[in-house]
Amino acid sequence: MTDPRLSDLLHQIPGLKVSTDPGDLEHHGRDWTRRWRPAPLAIVWPASVDEVQAVVRWAHGAGVAIVPSGGRTGLSGGAVAAHGELVVSLDRMNRVLGFDPIDRTLTVQPGVPLETVQNAAREHGLLYPVDFAARGSCQIGGNIATNAGGIRVIRYGNTRQWVAGLKVVTGTGELLDLNRGLIKNASGYDLRHLVIGSEGTLGIVVEATLTLTSPPPPSQVMLLAVPAMDALMKVFAEARHSLRLEAFEFFTDRALRHVLAHGAQQPFEETHPFYVVTEFDAADDQAEAAALGFFELCMEEGWVVDGVISSSDAQAASLWRLREGITESLAPHKPYKNDVSVRISAVPAFMAEMEALLSEGYPHFEVVWFGHIGDGNLHINVLKPAELDNARFVEQCEHVTTLLVDTLARHGGSISAEHGIGLVKKPWLGSVRSDAEIALMRAIKAAWDPKGIMNPGKLL
Ligand code: MLT
Ligand code: ZN
Repeated sequence: MTDPRLSDLLHQIPGLKVSTDPGDLEHHGRDWTRRWRPAPLAIVWPASVDEVQAVVRWAHGAGVAIVPSGGRTGLSGGAVAAHGELVVSLDRMNRVLGFDPIDRTLTVQPGVPLETVQNAAREHGLLYPVDFAARGSCQIGGNIATNAGGIRVIRYGNTRQWVAGLKVVTGTGELLDLNRGLIKNASGYDLRHLVIGSEGTLGIVVEATLTLTSPPPPSQVMLLAVPAMDALMKVFAEARHSLRLEAFEFFTDRALRHVLAHGAQQPFEETHPFYVVTEFDAADDQAEAAALGFFELCMEEGWVVDGVISSSDAQAASLWRLREGITESLAPHKPYKNDVSVRISAVPAFMAEMEALLSEGYPHFEVVWFGHIGDGNLHINVLKPAELDNARFVEQCEHVTTLLVDTLARHGGSISAEHGIGLVKKPWLGSVRSDAEIALMRAIKAAWDPKGIMNPGKLL
């Protein structure tokens, strides 16, 4: 540890776990984007709130930039450390601190994986409902920093909805105890909600009190083969009318082909342009009859041409695998990821315009569409042709993003639905936020982090 700044850090905080091992720098300096070469100054693993405060105070004094680091499963470069930053890993702050059966809250440290939060809730007969495929690797602190969404937003909303209290260390090292688990607290600006989704640019989440809810009744999963987007919208409207939905997701045949090549089982004999995976309450015979009625109506109307309804948990899981396996199956193709949202009703027109633009301008790119269509959230993944070098590919994709931004603007959409802005979408923040909004965001950051040490270069 030859850097004199690190000797000083260790002198100030004896016992702090620090590493400059090249493997650690590589591993903790990157997220799932893999676009930037990791180059942090060092990694530190504070084990307590006091240590986090001491590290931030030291960084504030020394003018060293900090990258807060959770599971680094992000897809927008929000947790990348490529410019000599100090990575503050929350891996050691990974305990569930308490459960309150009256408040129905779980208090956790930021490094607890989402899946552990879900399991802890389940042990108390309750549900923490935010859910997505990276549940085993992502951490709750990162979920809060990005206001993570996922596959059950249609029923339960985003992470924001489930955060009743937050302890946060600001860019000056001050500890804030925000909202303290209160349901009602009409006392001015709710700073908790500023931190949620701030991508580590205001401070470090060091503790969270999460609200839990009652578990849903037993559910069923249906996989539907759909011939066209207009039909898919009709299926969605009918599903919302006749079922109590937990999830409503879609993917294209291209997406399915990648998941099948990755080992999943072919669900239908024939191929179809679009597929829907939907989960809904099926508590009793009446609910099951409603599901059957829904399916029959969709078939009669020609909105659906084939379908499977799960009859066991194992079958439900294997249907979900077709949707949840997409990201992993695309990863070897180094996809350029777009994560956009439009109003649900605008989805077919938006998709048709984008598909026309893409096939005219970029016929050599394979484009895979999937996502949370019940939230108007589409993931548009452009796969890298094997022969194209990475930099050229990203350059061309960023040109596609410019077209995408124009199309989104015409449909009133957003360039980032749930993955965040990070580094990847930063050039296009101005397409969704006005100059006045961005100026206010900068002023807020300056108030929380006057020296600009918290995850600099991300978001703003
Ligand atoms: C998903 O919905 O599967 C995730 O947002 C991940 C992705 O977009 O690849
Ligand atoms: Zn998603």
